Amino acid sequence: MKKILFVCLGNICRSPLAEAIFLHKIKVKGLSHLYYAESCGTANYHIGDRPDHRTIRNAGKNGVVIDHFGRQLCTEDFEKFDEIFVMDKSNFNNALKLAGVHKAKVKLMRAFDPNGGEEVPDPYYGGEGDFQNVFDILERSIEAYLQYPTPNSSIQ
Ligand code: 4NP
Repeated sequence: MKKILFVCLGNICRSPLAEAIFLHKIKVKGLSHLYYAESCGTANYHIGDRPDHRTIRNAGKNGVVIDHFGRQLCTEDFEKFDEIFVMDKSNFNNALKLAGVHKAKVKLMRAFDPNGGEEVPDPYYGGEGDFQNVFDILERSIEAYLQYPTPNSSIQ
């Protein structure tokens, strides 16, 4: 079973949505026995919190259910997980600081986006359009990962 970890800053917007989209897709595709997925944040602001209500609402609008409590990235995660998909460069750099010998496991989520782009933008100070943009990026990137699990960008 391949273990995947999705990482953002607060673990209330982007990474719990990525986890939920991933779990939804592998269920629909009959691949749930092949993968295990979780999400977390590099910051400690939202430990134990439910996802942002705007993320829950946007996911629901797109047919995806989110069930998650926030937690912070820790060094043990780099032992436990096989692939660690990070939402933006700032969190990528912070994740690498904790990765030790496991730096090659850490990749930018959007390296899989077939439409290109480098970061999944933080929607926290945005509106519904920003949350939908995050959903669309994650949906495309995760679909592409499940079809062909090799990044399409030189920035991994
Ligand atoms: P996330 O978004 O990293 O996608 O969960 C954020 C959530 C909370 C904060 C920033 C970004 N915050 O500053 O509390």
